[in-house]
Amino acid sequence: MSVRPTMPEELLAAKRLLAVSDLSDSDIHYILDLAEHYAGFVQRSAPAPKRLAGKTQINLFFEDSTRTNLSFELAGVKLGADIINVPVSASSIHKGESLVDTAQTMAAMGADVMVVRAREEALHSTLDKVLNCAVVNGGAGAKEHPTQALLDAATIRAEFGDIEGRVIAVCGDVKHSRVAGSNAHLLSRLGAEVRFVGPAHLMPADDQFTNIPRIDNLKDGLDGADIAMALRMQFERMGDDAGTAARGYYEEFGLTHDTIKLAKPHARVMHPGPMNRGVEIDGALADDKELSLILRQVFYGVPTRMACLDALLTRGE
Ligand code: CP
Repeated sequence: MSVRPTMPEELLAAKRLLAVSDLSDSDIHYILDLAEHYAGFVQRSAPAPKRLAGKTQINLFFEDSTRTNLSFELAGVKLGADIINVPVSASSIHKGESLVDTAQTMAAMGADVMVVRAREEALHSTLDKVLNCAVVNGGAGAKEHPTQALLDAATIRAEFGDIEGRVIAVCGDVKHSRVAGSNAHLLSRLGAEVRFVGPAHLMPADDQFTNIPRIDNLKDGLDGADIAMALRMQFERMGDDAGTAARGYYEEFGLTHDTIKLAKPHARVMHPGPMNRGVEIDGALADDKELSLILRQVFYGVPTRMACLDALLTRGE
């Protein structure tokens, strides 16, 4: 089990985790080191120190989630927090209560931290202003998913030992992906060479991510890559384009045992989940125990979110 890292003198000065830009370089390194430390506890089913005992964590997910919601819950449980998962589908939202009023109502019950997922990209910033507890972004529209990027970085570091200089091909529906956005910001800051790979209609607007190269074919896109990170085709965010966006995609850009050979010989495949098997990735590659890091990403979700909650709620202690 790795040694618990020393808390930097200044930690998460933003007092929130809404975007990768809320993290300083020392925050990022501390959270990744702490995630690796907690991974030892999770791996061995050993009890972690109850550093959040007495703290209340509220998980408020206005959009569906399996991995993020449950791993935040597990992370809080392992650190001894009191946790409430708001049953949004059975809440007073269906009587017309606004999302902000719902969050304020939950905060008034004595929250120390609220983990929020919502389609509305501005909601998290609004909540950060009106709530007197820490706010963590568990996924905001197509914009940011910072804890997914942190767990992806933790996974890459665990697999390769380093991130600096690694070539990471983020493949597919970049345009609608909060995971792509947060990973582009975070992995670039950690010294990786990030590139977006996919057809033009799935790329973000030209004035976004101007520092990230875009490659419109898999041969060049995977050339020299250490990681091929497939993205879910986010049909629910495509509106009228949903019926045609994936037409011909798998034949040209699908990740398979054949196409992964275009990358470096030791290359690994990642996917944040949930997957559309046979749409962006072949099921056999996703299930390949040597080449696929997908379940390792899920594993790192728990210790990484333990690290984020710990850093936010015990800073300065
Ligand atoms: N990767 C991810 O955010 O998955 P969930 O939607 O299941 O939380």
